[in-house]
This record gives sequence, structure tokens and C-alpha cells, in this order.
Amino acid sequence: MKIYHKSIMVDKVLEFLNIQPGKIFVDCTLGEGGHSFEILKACKGKCTVIGIDADPEIIEVARERLKDYPNFIAVNRRFSDLNEILRELKIEKVDGFLFDLGISSYHLDRPDRGFSFRFDAPLDMRMDRNGELTAEYVVNRYSKKDLERILREYGEEPFAKRIANSIIKNRPIKTTKELVEVISKVYPRKYKNSRIHFATRTFMAIRIEVNRELQELQKALLKSLDFLNQGGRIVVITFHSLEDRIVKRFFKENEGKGLKILTKKPLYPNEEEIFENPRARSAKLRAAEKE
Ligand SMILES: C[S@@+](CC[C@H](N)C(=O)[O-])C[C@H]1O[C@@H](n2cnc3c(N)ncnc32)[C@H](O)[C@@H]1O
Repeated sequence: MKIYHKSIMVDKVLEFLNIQPGKIFVDCTLGEGGHSFEILKACKGKCTVIGIDADPEIIEVARERLKDYPNFIAVNRRFSDLNEILRELKIEKVDGFLFDLGISSYHLDRPDRGFSFRFDAPLDMRMDRNGELTAEYVVNRYSKKDLERILREYGEEPFAKRIANSIIKNRPIKTTKELVEVISKVYPRKYKNSRIHFATRTFMAIRIEVNRELQELQKALLKSLDFLNQGGRIVVITFHSLEDRIVKRFFKENEGKGLKILTKKPLYPNEEEIFENPRARSAKLRAAEKE
């Protein structure tokens, strides 16, 4: 049996999307199709799911997995193109948007994609391999100031300054292993054995920059509002405090102006889910409804 990425907080996602036959849902982060599969199962194949993903490789996995559902449509684009995608499909209104942000375990397990420090690979980290910006460009071309900024802001890396210095000093850096070594040279020894690998924050920061993840989210949230039916829902699962802040702020700004917040505080996965799927530990779910 094929092992897929483990979908996060499935019960809550289904509950907040308010799945019913005849409705139209957009899974903005299709990945291997885990949440889309659950949505289609919950409506017994009688709702429509449009699954968007920037990565053409992963979308093929979802297509194969969901091939028995004729109401499933896969679209290989960035979700910030939401309005163009829906217009091209001639869809005017949607009953639910789902965002399950970041990358899939599929990406981390692909040695050649450069997302993981577990494998030696060229510095790539693009979800969309047609994208112009690569991790190699960020690492080798960005100024010290910009590197430090993204490591601090996106990576929440306390040693951003010394890592940025080390990167500048050791250029050119071509592979993930070389980058890990460059970080290792300056990372305080006493923090190297902590539960989280010392390269994790740097890799995450570069990935967020390469894929413009925060900008993508801002744009897509704004666009989604125009397409929501009355009673339609937006459900967002974030894994990073900056993502969560964007969602929280967006919901707050639109509260009372057509949007009702359904989660006053973010919801978290329970201990059992975190035990089974450690990636769930930083997940937060927020949901809102169009009034
Ligand atoms: C966490 S995974 C989704 C997992 C999926 N919900 C499941 O249960 O199997 C996130 C997916 O969103 C995609 N993605 C992230 N940002 C994107 C963007 N701006 N546009 C389109 N796809 C994006 C990634 O390529 C990845 O496949």
C-alpha cells in the first residue's frame, strides 16, 4: 500500500468546511490529495473539489489517488492565481477554501529537491520548478543584511547574524550538505544536540523566501473572499507564527465586514495526533465564514 503524507486535523477541517453534496470546495494546497480525498469521501463524491498545487510532480500523485472521483479537478498553478484559475474554470462562487500551508512530507522525502538536510542535493527548494528563484541564488547572491533578515524573520533563528556571516565567508555554496557544514561551523556546540536539528530554521527560512510563501498567502486570502458564497468557509492550517499572524489579521480586518470568525482562538491538533505525526506539533487551524 502506498504511504502518503499524513493529513493534519482532518476531522476539524471537514467540520469547519461544512461538507455537503452539491457544494464546491477549493483545496488550495492539494499536495498528495489527502484532504481532498477526505472531502470527496465525506460528500460521497457528490461535491466538487478543485485542487491546486504549484508542484507538477506532486499533483500527479493526487490525480492518480483521486482518479475515481469525476468531480475532482487538479490545477497546477500557484494559489495566488486563485481568481484566474476560477475564472478559467467558469466558477463564480465557492463554498469552502482550504489552505494547509508549507510543504508536504513528499517534498522532504525527495532527495533531489533540496528541501531536506538529510540528503545531499543541489540547493533548489522550489515547489514550482519553473520558478525563477532558487535556494542557490538566495544563498550565494543575497546580501549579508538580507540573509540575516530572512533567517531572523522567517527562520526565527537566534544565530541569524553569525550564520549569515558564515554563508558570506564560505561562498560559493552549492549543495545542502555544504550549507549544513557552513551553519555547523558557527553554531554554538551546546545547542547542537537539541531536539530540533541546528539547520532546520535556516532551511525553513530559505524555503519560505524561495517560494514567497507569505506573499502568496496574503494574496490568496484576499482573492478568496470575492468568491465565497454566503455561508462559505475559509479554513487555514498554518505551521509558522508569521503565517498565523497573517491569517489572524486578515480575519480580524474583515470581521463584521462580511466575515464571521469561527475560531476565536486557533485550534491545535490533540496529543494523539502529535504523537502519531510530529509534523503536526506546530499546526494551528483558524476558520471563518462569509456572512
Ligand atoms: C502541506 S502540503 C498539503 C498536504 C495535503 N493537504 C494533504 O493532506 O495531503 C502543502 C502543499 O501545498 C503546495 N503549495 C504550497 N504553497 C503553494 C502555493 N503558493 N501555490 C500552490 N501550491 C502551494 C505544496 O507544493 C504542497 O504540495
